[in-house]
Amino acid sequence: MKKMNEQQLIRLVESLTLEEKIGQLMQLTAEFFDQNSKTVEIGPLKKLGLENDFDINNVGSILNTTNPNDIRFIQQKTLEQSRHKIPLLFMADIIYGMKTILPIPLAQVSSWNMKEIKESAKMMAAECYEMGIHVTFSPMVDIVRDPRWGRVMESPGEDTYLASRYAKAMVEGIQGSVEEQQIPDSHIAACVKHFAAYGAPSAGREYNTVELSEHTLREFYLPSYYAAIQAGAKLVMTAFNTINGIPATGNQWLNRGILRDEFDFNGVLISDYAAVEELIVHGYAEDKTDAAKKAFLSGVDIDMKTAVYANELPKLIEENPELHPLLDTAVLRVLNLKNDLGLFDDPYRGITSTGKTMNKLLSNVHQETALRLAEESIVLLKNDHDQLPIKEKERVALIGPYAKESSTLGFWAITGDEKDTVTLEKGLKKYLSPDDLKVARGSFLLDPETIESYDKYSKDIPAEKRPMNKLMDEAIQIAENSDKIILAVGESVYQSGEGGSRVNPTLPEPQVELIHKMSQLDKPIILVVYSGRPLILTDIESKVDAILYAWFPGTMGGDALANLLMGEVSPSGKLPMTFPRSVGQIPMHYNEFATGRPRSLAPEKYRFASKYLDESNLPLYSFGYGLSYTSFVYHSLKVSSAIIKDDRPIEISIMLENTGNREGKEIVQLYICDVAASVVRPIKELKDFKKVTVASKTTKEVTFKLTEEQLRFHQSSGRYSSEPGKFIVTIAANSTDEGLKTTIIYEK
Ligand code: BGC
Repeated sequence: MKKMNEQQLIRLVESLTLEEKIGQLMQLTAEFFDQNSKTVEIGPLKKLGLENDFDINNVGSILNTTNPNDIRFIQQKTLEQSRHKIPLLFMADIIYGMKTILPIPLAQVSSWNMKEIKESAKMMAAECYEMGIHVTFSPMVDIVRDPRWGRVMESPGEDTYLASRYAKAMVEGIQGSVEEQQIPDSHIAACVKHFAAYGAPSAGREYNTVELSEHTLREFYLPSYYAAIQAGAKLVMTAFNTINGIPATGNQWLNRGILRDEFDFNGVLISDYAAVEELIVHGYAEDKTDAAKKAFLSGVDIDMKTAVYANELPKLIEENPELHPLLDTAVLRVLNLKNDLGLFDDPYRGITSTGKTMNKLLSNVHQETALRLAEESIVLLKNDHDQLPIKEKERVALIGPYAKESSTLGFWAITGDEKDTVTLEKGLKKYLSPDDLKVARGSFLLDPETIESYDKYSKDIPAEKRPMNKLMDEAIQIAENSDKIILAVGESVYQSGEGGSRVNPTLPEPQVELIHKMSQLDKPIILVVYSGRPLILTDIESKVDAILYAWFPGTMGGDALANLLMGEVSPSGKLPMTFPRSVGQIPMHYNEFATGRPRSLAPEKYRFASKYLDESNLPLYSFGYGLSYTSFVYHSLKVSSAIIKDDRPIEISIMLENTGNREGKEIVQLYICDVAASVVRPIKELKDFKKVTVASKTTKEVTFKLTEEQLRFHQSSGRYSSEPGKFIVTIAANSTDEGLKTTIIYEK
């Protein structure tokens, strides 16, 4: 079959039987298709509960098969055995890298470099393409204000604008420039997720209830999904959570009202893993028939990984013939996606006839791409007395469970191989001779007593070979003979990611002990932190001289860190999420609403202000914060006009002076505050930013354009528009920086 036009696709839908149509809405894993047997595997079918007479060759898509040989085999077998010869879609969770693993998404966003993010997404898509994958379940653009939630690592952080820019860059990188709906070679389809507000589970507990006012949902949580859809994302995935009492996967208001009608999304809506069946456990559906009905009526096209649609939809549709058009539309959407990918032309898209890949995987160019992004993703949080970079001839003691660790890819790198990871030790060895670099583990990564709680992953956590006191003694010995200590510490990759919620997001206890011990040695300490989330570092921050926040930096992490530590590259990342001082401050985000009794207006000890008795209101590190090896001064703010009108945007510029001794990149941020409006507005809202390179002792002008559109918000009437009045514009280095301010007036 060749590429089809709309009419041909409609005719194809019409030619299908009811079972064949419903098959297109099913997604299974590959266990049903055994390479060695000619028939379908009965075991998995039984486990899934698929009714016996269902012909598996009618299935429309396959989940998480990432081997090109298996993909070719399954595709071929299905095409041979199915009556309609519609190619299968292969979808997988390639979230931030196929073989060349990029930094985790939260880290990527710390780069604030959308060009590099897009380039990296393009590289990731090219690797997927070669492996025969058609759709990736990326980007995840759930806004998160709570670092207890484990999936914060996959998120773009707390800010709506930054997340929306990330959503666009990712979709454009993954899908390429989609002309006439066609996805070009070396690109695949993107699936934005999890619709909606999955990043706001109560108390940060995975899969928990989401309670958000419609205002907060629309104002802060929905725009990033919308940005991905506007960028052309071909698929959307539902979320596991309820929103205000209704599970997202069966939520008509959300999926039809907002997604289809308001956002005008015409692509495929796929459920999250088994989420259709879980409507029963939620207590939202009586039984499987009811679950199928509720998900289907809400607009879910594909049922991921359950037999609910396959078993229940035939009866539902036979009994309710008025549902036929709904079914045909859903099937047409799936076929459109196959057509957009060119699968009717070439069902083996991207895979060579031998099943061998074309050596692009992990190529030098791809490694370079991952390295650049990793370098820009890492955030320098502290650098007292310029302890960093490491100076020439300094003898370094590299200590900590992350010194030689290769498991730094993060929880969702399912196709990455730790063997390809450049460890921190390996990175530093490129700079330091064996005499100047001594390495010791220093402590356990995790308290052995806690390992069991990691369930099936506990077997992947290697047992500690030596007792803690021996590790510590060895560390003290090498530390004493060094000029500086690099302490490489962090969470285990199993402490974040799906199902990785923590009530106490701090460093594991044995490593805290190590930091305390090292701090008694009177040597400068550089802390390198690996993590999938903002950790609470309040107790250890004062014990160290410098902190470099590595997140999980991916395959090239060790090289990136070494380049930064040794000063080959200056750090340029800034935080996409607030780092709280205490768990009790969570949820915490910079763009909160003003209260009637703000702390800032009250006298020091005054009780009746919005504050805590036992902790400051401030974070440890604020959104947008990050240092570099040079210093920047912002001055000379200029505004083209103090009045902004619908058809008259204004320009605001500042002079950015690099007063330090080396070139550096600075992320200049523009925030607005709507002084009074018909609904209370955030005390500060990011509206634009620029990442600029400035040579030492030189000054650059940084100019922003501000339009009426950027002043819009959701009013209580439901309208999205701007209101005349006063706005304070701040151009600053981060969200708590005073920066340079000007007041502008918006006139209709
Ligand atoms: C996750 C999704 C993922 C899906 C398929 C689910 O558990 O929530 O993000 O895409 O599994 O693997």
